[in-house]
Formats: sequence, structure tokens, C-alpha cells
Amino acid sequence: MEKISRTKIVDLLKREDFGAMVNVKGWVRTRRGSKQVNFIALNDGSTINNVQIVVDLENFDEALLKDITTGACLSVNGVLTESVGAGQKAEIQAREIEVLGTCDNTYPLQKKGHSMEFLREIAHLRPRTNTFGAVFRIRHNMAIAIHTFFHQKGFFYFHTPIITASDCEGAGQMFQVTTKNLYDLKKDENGSIIYDDDFFGKQASLTVSGQLEGELAATALGAIYTFGPTFRAENSNTPRHLAEFWMVEPEVAFADLSELMDLEEEFIKFCVKWALDNCADDLEFLNKMVDKGLIERLQKVVNTEFVRLPYTEGIKILEEAVAKGHKFEFPVYWGCDLASEHERYLVEEHFQKPVIMIDYPKEIKAFYMKQNEDGKTVQGTDVLFPQIGEIIGGSVREENYDKLMARITELHIPMKDMWWYLDTRKYGTCPHAGFGLGFERLLLFVTGMANIRDVIPFPRTPRNAEF
Ligand code: 4AD
Ligand code: MG
Repeated sequence: MEKISRTKIVDLLKREDFGAMVNVKGWVRTRRGSKQVNFIALNDGSTINNVQIVVDLENFDEALLKDITTGACLSVNGVLTESVGAGQKAEIQAREIEVLGTCDNTYPLQKKGHSMEFLREIAHLRPRTNTFGAVFRIRHNMAIAIHTFFHQKGFFYFHTPIITASDCEGAGQMFQVTTKNLYDLKKDENGSIIYDDDFFGKQASLTVSGQLEGELAATALGAIYTFGPTFRAENSNTPRHLAEFWMVEPEVAFADLSELMDLEEEFIKFCVKWALDNCADDLEFLNKMVDKGLIERLQKVVNTEFVRLPYTEGIKILEEAVAKGHKFEFPVYWGCDLASEHERYLVEEHFQKPVIMIDYPKEIKAFYMKQNEDGKTVQGTDVLFPQIGEIIGGSVREENYDKLMARITELHIPMKDMWWYLDTRKYGTCPHAGFGLGFERLLLFVTGMANIRDVIPFPRTPRNAEF
């Protein structure tokens, strides 16, 4: 076959130099046609759109044609031609075809319309479907949006450790990291495992959040963000929880509560707008096939001012709803941890826009949140979103050493491995604030997918670590 340098389909479909010889490589989505001419829809992953390959059967060997089946990988040389039919502007009149990889007839993606559950079982192949191609291209674009946003604002990307020996964030159950022989564990007289001879010489785990190390960096570099995998071993089998998920955690020195909320709102709007501006083809596909209200919802978020709502007022609204006969599964009272049905009532029914809830009771929030003067509430913020519920959790941090220590003691938090965190409050402490955005929660919102397992390539959930 003549060597012609490859054009990606995304670029090819924009070309207008009809008559040029081109080469494309990709996988066959469908093949149809008559005895004289066949049409192959070829996709190479660079775009949701396929290029149509027109094959005059007379010019090709029967043995070769037999191998051009759904899923097969082809290299095609041909003439770029203006397309007459509806759909794409350009197509290719095939001159030479090479089958780079034939596709066994056990290929599970022969037909359209597989269920999401089935596609999860073949997560190694699902990126080849239109839906998952779109989701993973959007996932990439959202990562670029995140880096762009923070870079433009002068934040530094700071890499916090994945393996940690501090278990004090209390954000969730941790996965242990060990090289110990589990069949032969040495224990002391109380039956506790001895970790002296373990790899790190002490008990270690996978991180649940990069925040605490992020705070160290913010009190030196001024403004930083982390963006990496985090791990939580909670047994939450919901459409919004993963055991391994990616989190973005900015941390900003000298920021107060209102600046924190401004940053949260500006950041999410930037990301959603980025998707609208850079992922139009994929969003249109998802809007058509997955969620008819998607693009409208994204535009609405970009153009809406988020509600800023103290927890106490939120509880009043929920109590009024209950008084008027609205039924919630979980009880509502001052001090309760809001369930996602409560959050969604506020966002989807009462306000019909995103809500940043603030000033939570200290009992339901982490030890590091800045305590308010009332002695009851802390400067925590949760950003609540339509369809999703909590998408961001953050706070102003307690920068006062004595107040922080008092809270730590009150909560019996094991701080022996945390001396380094407390040092920030001893050596030039400063007001600071930060938040964590669940990357897959953002993707749920931006793609309109219903289950968080379908916005990460290989989901890890209880009893599931396939692929
Ligand atoms: O609210 P969380 O637990 O906050 C923290 O971890 C803080 N250290 C963040 C900070 O202030 N730097 O988690 C933050 C976000 C949640 O709002 C949610 O979007 C997401 O992380 N998240 C999860 N996403 C998927 N699966 C899970 N199991 C998640 N748990 C939290
Ligand atoms: Mg939270």
C-alpha cells in the first residue's frame, strides 16, 4: 500500500481540498451497501464523527472485503471527496484498503443500544462506543480546563502524596498499604499488629485527600491546587460514590469565606463554559442520546448566580417544606447532616439553581474548619448542584493554634503523626481557605451521565476492581 501520512478524522472532516489523496486509520463502526458499492463508517476516536468510506466493490478483492467487519481496524488510502448526502461534508473514495486487524465475530459491540450495566462489564471495550468516546474526550477536556483555570490565576500545581501515614482528616475509611505477609502477622501482647518491620515502619494508607499537605504548600507558595486520585474505603454503593476518585483541591492563603465562595463559583462556571466551548460535538451527541436537558442545564449554570445560603436558613426552608406536606426519607432538624434528598430539594425545587451552603454546625464538619463567633457553627461550604447534590466541599481553615488544638482534643483526633500540620499554625500562621471538587461529580454534571461508574474509565467500587 502506498505510504501517505495519516490524517486524523477530526481534521479530515474540516478539510475542503477535495481531490487530495489522504490516509485514515480507524475502526469500522458499520458497513452497509449494495452489490456494487459499500459504505463504511470509520471512527478513529479523535471525534465523535465517523468518516464515510465509499468502496466500489469491483476494485477490491473478495477476501479483503470479507474481513471488513464491525470492529475491524483499517488503513484506507483514498480521494477526499465532497459528500452529497446529509451528514459530513467530506468522505473518502477508497483506492487502497489494508486490514490492520480483523475482528473476531465474538466482538460484543456488534449492535447498538447496549445497557450501561452491560457496557460496564466490558469496560475494556466501551471507549469504542459513541457515548463513552464522548465521555472520555470530555473528561480530558475538563482536566485541561482545571489546569488552565488555576494556571491563569497564578496557582501552582502541587503534588501531594498518595501514600500517607496520617489518618486524621476523618474524610473516610482508608485503604491500608503494606508489604507485610498477611498470613504471618506479628502482634504485640494486646493483639495489635506490629508495624515496625513494615515497609514504612508504621501503618500507612492511601490518601483520602491532599488537603492537609496542600495547606502546607499554600502557606508557602500562596495559592496552590492539587489534582490527583484519592481513595475511600466506605461501603457506599450509590451512583455518586467511587472508592477511587479524582479530586481537585485548591488552597489559598489570605482568602476569607466570601473569597472562597467566589473562587468556587468562578471555577465551576469556567469548567462548564470550557465544555460548552470545546466539546460541542460530544455534548450535542450526549444531549440527543443521553439527556435531552443537558446543554440547557449547562448554559443555565454558566449564566446563573449561585445562591449563598447559611445552613440555619436552609434547615428552615426544609422544615417549612415538611410542614407543607413534603415527604423526606430522613428527618430534618437543626444539626442534622443533610441527605442528598434534602440538598436536591433546595437546589432543584426551592431555588432551582446551584446553592453554596455555609456555616454548618461544627459537629457535622471536620476539625480543621474555622469556628464562628457563635461557638456553634463553622465556616464550611458545600456547593450543591442540580442532579448531583454535593459537588464541592470546602472551608475556611482554623488558623488559630489554640482553637485548633482545643477542637482536636475535644474530638480525640490522633495527632501524633500530625506535628507537621500544627507547625503551620505555629510558624507565621495565616488565614487561609480551600475546597475539594470531586472530578467525577463534575463530569456527571457536564456529561449528563446518571452513574459515576460511567464517567471514569475503570471504576473501583465495593467488590469491583476488574480491569
Ligand atoms: O467533602 P469532601 O470529603 O472534602 C474533602 O475531602 C476536603 N479535604 C476538601 C478540601 O477542603 N480540600 O470531598 C470533596 C469532594 C466532595 O464534595 C465530592 O464532590 C467528592 O469530593 N467526593 C467523592 N466523589 C466520588 N466518590 C466519593 N466517594 C467521594 N467522596 C467525596
Ligand atoms: Mg463533603
